[in-house]
Amino acid sequence: MLELSGGERQVQRSFNLEHARHSDSRYLHFTPGLAQQWLNDIKLPAEWFKGKTILDAGCGSGRWTYAMASLGARVVAADLTEAGTKVTQQATAGFENVAVLQANVFNLPFKPESFDMVVSWGVLHHTPSSKAAFDRLAPLVKRGGILYVMVYEKHNPLKFFLTDLIRRVLRRLPEDRRYRACRWLIIRNRLLHSLLANRIICALEPSSRDPLEISTLQLGLYDAYAPMFNHLHSRREVEAWFREHGFDQICLTRPVRFSSRKDIRLYGECGGSINMRGVRL
Ligand SMILES: C[S@@+](CC[C@H](N)C(=O)[O-])C[C@H]1O[C@@H](n2cnc3c(N)ncnc32)[C@H](O)[C@@H]1O
Repeated sequence: MLELSGGERQVQRSFNLEHARHSDSRYLHFTPGLAQQWLNDIKLPAEWFKGKTILDAGCGSGRWTYAMASLGARVVAADLTEAGTKVTQQATAGFENVAVLQANVFNLPFKPESFDMVVSWGVLHHTPSSKAAFDRLAPLVKRGGILYVMVYEKHNPLKFFLTDLIRRVLRRLPEDRRYRACRWLIIRNRLLHSLLANRIICALEPSSRDPLEISTLQLGLYDAYAPMFNHLHSRREVEAWFREHGFDQICLTRPVRFSSRKDIRLYGECGGSINMRGVRL
């Protein structure tokens, strides 16, 4: 049993349902194409991964663990949830180079400088403090190794405020009912969707009404609404975290998209997510 605060337990319960339903999302299917998707995301050559020791901190249902293992890395995958670790274990059972553990990023059983790379994709902003979680992960990277994180980016304060109000209401429901309620945020009417899309997180129902597309959207909305911590950060802020821990060659793997003040306020510089990596000196 992990020792968790009340907030962390809420996050654990929320993601547990998500990972138990991972096959509802086409993004979480285990296909040979995942390795290429991962390379496109992290912008490193396939050869880099061969023989490297990598920590996937907050592995979820294990898509990136699977991708990195299939590229020849030894991967240690850790997640807060039982369902996430179970799915990751099952999906990577064919690899000898994967170890999976249920653990909190604030209490990982590793010595400093244990890994050639630490990856934490979409995780830090769901902890009580993104910066404090970053502070735990950065020392685990070897000198010359890489840290890669994806965190939510600050944008559209009105949308964040209204979305957060809905989150507070939905949090009163048990997880399965919260999941079902997210179906109502998939909107059929185009006009209504365009009116709402700048004010709350919602989705437009695909004209095909394809069940997998709809369940993918529903699980994505549940991901956005269910956990109680959803911190937002700026590119400068995350870059300062890397600098504080002595990282160099800091870069965005998805380049800056918006430069005017108005656009940055509405969409964020990088369009809503900061994907940043650096090399530890
Ligand atoms: C949005 S999911 C991302 C999963 C995976 N990285 C991916 O990209 O598919 C966030 C994950 O962070 C995990 N998580 C949140 N807080 C955590 C913590 N304190 N320690 C370990 N894992 C945590 C959740 O259980 C969840 O699986």
